Order: sequence, then C-alpha cells, then structure tokens
Amino acid sequence: MVRQGYKITKTSKKMNNRELLKQIENELNEKINLPLKETSKNLVFGKGNPDAKILFVGEAAGKNEDEQGIPFCGAAGKNLDKLLQKVGLILHDVYVANIIKYRPPENRDPLPSEIKAHTPYLLKQIQVIKPKVVCSLGNYATKFFLARGNVEEMKNQPGITQLHGQLKEIKIDGLKIKLIPLFHPAAIIYNRTKLTPLWEQDMEIVKEEIKKI
Ligand code: URA
Repeated sequence: MVRQGYKITKTSKKMNNRELLKQIENELNEKINLPLKETSKNLVFGKGNPDAKILFVGEAAGKNEDEQGIPFCGAAGKNLDKLLQKVGLILHDVYVANIIKYRPPENRDPLPSEIKAHTPYLLKQIQVIKPKVVCSLGNYATKFFLARGNVEEMKNQPGITQLHGQLKEIKIDGLKIKLIPLFHPAAIIYNRTKLTPLWEQDMEIVKEEIKKI
C-alpha cells in the first residue's frame, strides 16, 4: 500500500507529486456534471512546480485562462508575475491554482454551490503539494481558507480590504499552513494608485516568510 497524498491505493510504485496532480486533473476531466464545465472551453487546473512550498490561490479563470486552460495567463497573470518578481520568485518556485476550476460565464462571481463542488479538488491539490505558505488572492480564496474550507462559513469572514498582508497560521484539511491574504492581481489593474503601495507592503510579508522556508 502506498499513500497517494489524498487516497490510499494499492500500487507497486510510489507516484511523485506531478503524477498525483495529473491523477486529480484526470479525475476532474472525467467528472461530467461539475457546475460550469458545460459553459466553459477548458479546465483550468494549475501551473508551476508540483513540489513548491508556496501556493498561490486565485478565484476562477477569465477569458484567456478559459481559452488556454492555464491559470493567470491574461492581464491579471502579468500582475501576478510582477508580484513574484518583486519577492525574488519565478513560476518554478511556486504552484498556482484557483478555487474554481472552470470559468464562470461573463466572469460572474462564483456561487456557493459552485465553490462547494469545485473546492474538494483544490483541497486534493493541497494534500499533494503540502505547501508551507499559501498566498490567497482576493476575497473568495481568502474567505475559503479563513473558513477552513467550510463554504457556509465564508460569508461570515472579513473581506480582503481588512485582511490583506496579515499572516494567519491556520489548519485546513488537517494541514498546517501560513496564510497570507493578498489583493487579487486583477484588483490592482482597476485600482492601481490606491492598491499598489499596499500591495508592495504586503509583498514584504511574503518576502520575510519565504526566507524561512
Ligand atoms: N483570476 C483568477 O482568479 N484566476 C485566474 O486564473 C485568472 C484570473
């Protein structure tokens, strides 16, 4: 018996993280009735290093991500790249995923029922990667972690304006992580003057934490 991150399967070979993530991705691809699947073009599963100790979690794909099947490959992704650069990281140092695995039509906010249906797959990704630090990008991802994955509890959590840059040590799905809530990279595009200085302050917190990993 070999532990495969999120389930125990009888196998003669221990799978590595890349293979385990591929298994979850295949599982998602085979799931026919997952909400939002029918209205989108591609599954947007994740990118980066499956062995990374830092995980960035966004909300859901936009138009570009839906077309390419890659998270943060559009305008918000350019800001995420800048953010990584500022703290001396490249994509190979991190893993990037979303709480929602398909694009909501017209980029509308995800419904609680959709978050409930999709986030078990994020938790499976987390069980494989076992990140030490999670940077939650924007309101939805932050509330999901603060509610410890309990979707009903998300509405009772404070918003990102109140929480950004405040490191919290939390346990989610039995795993201890340091959560650093950050403004969503797309929010920076729309509110550059006000948010950029706050974002830069928050980056210092990220920088300090990654030095300790
Ligand atoms: N916004 C997100 O939250 N995720 C993406 O993948 C792209 C934009």
